[in-house]
Amino acid sequence: MSTARAYPNIALIKYWGKADEELMLPAAGSLSLTLDTFATTTTVTLVPEADDDSLELNGAEATPEQVRRVTRLLDIVREWSGSTAHARVVTRNEAPTGAGLASSASGFAALATAAADAYGLDLSARDLSRLARRGSGSATRSIFPGLAMWHAGDDESSCAEDVSGPDFRMIIVFVDESHKSVTSREAMRRTAATSPFHSAWVESTAQSLDLALQACADDDFTRLGQLTESNALRMHAVIQSAEPPIRYLTARSIAVFDAVERLREDGLEAYATADAGPNVVVISRPADADAVAERLGDLGRVAVVGPGPGAALISEE
Ligand code: PMV
Repeated sequence: MSTARAYPNIALIKYWGKADEELMLPAAGSLSLTLDTFATTTTVTLVPEADDDSLELNGAEATPEQVRRVTRLLDIVREWSGSTAHARVVTRNEAPTGAGLASSASGFAALATAAADAYGLDLSARDLSRLARRGSGSATRSIFPGLAMWHAGDDESSCAEDVSGPDFRMIIVFVDESHKSVTSREAMRRTAATSPFHSAWVESTAQSLDLALQACADDDFTRLGQLTESNALRMHAVIQSAEPPIRYLTARSIAVFDAVERLREDGLEAYATADAGPNVVVISRPADADAVAERLGDLGRVAVVGPGPGAALISEE
């Protein structure tokens, strides 16, 4: 029995689109911050006499589709370890599931870490990152602490690594905590298949990633923030241009982007981003985070979070 804890990450340069669905290779690289809040804790216990894997998610038995996603990852661990045993997986998320806060990132990073250990594999962080990738693209990055970059790669070695850069905080504005309507998997597929702008998005993301890595190397928060906001708006633009269209941002989300622009006009430097859901994540320098949170507090519940640890095994409590 092995237990691991992992944290979600929020991308500054987004992963949106796969080059290979089976291997989960992204169309472009991405860059994110692993958070210090909203962990997922997952325990994997081998049950050799069981006929199938089973999954408890937040205290309830999971749906067959959720179990299938876990089994797909466990099948890879079984292949790597030579074991045929099934497993019982018990997982708990501290963040609202499915609201665009990347609980799949912390979930699959924790599952990869706990499952590798339960099946007797001693994997490096890079190999855990490769494994987590097969569950969910964004999980590739949650293996690493703080800023992490996922190299697109063109084969199954595709994984993330940690990057150093400016220190900053994230102010999460929860404008809507209900479950999102279209999964990121389906929405990515639809975007790539139908948007006339998809190839431009992929090309521009690769360029923005290079510029963002340069901003990290230069310790340049302003440049990193500008690139973050424009990349997020480009991602939502390409998503909205799918057929039928998908819109994750609501009027309340847009109100947060407007408020962030006003903060900048008032000299409080902040930049906004949003994943596949309506919640908006604002970045600021550490010293400004409380002031930014206070100014945005009228628009939704806010949480100030910072850089957090990579996925790790924990001892049973
Ligand atoms: O890997 P998924 O299915 O969690 O997709 C992640 C998509 C975004 O959160 C919108 C972008 C990203 O890079 O995390």
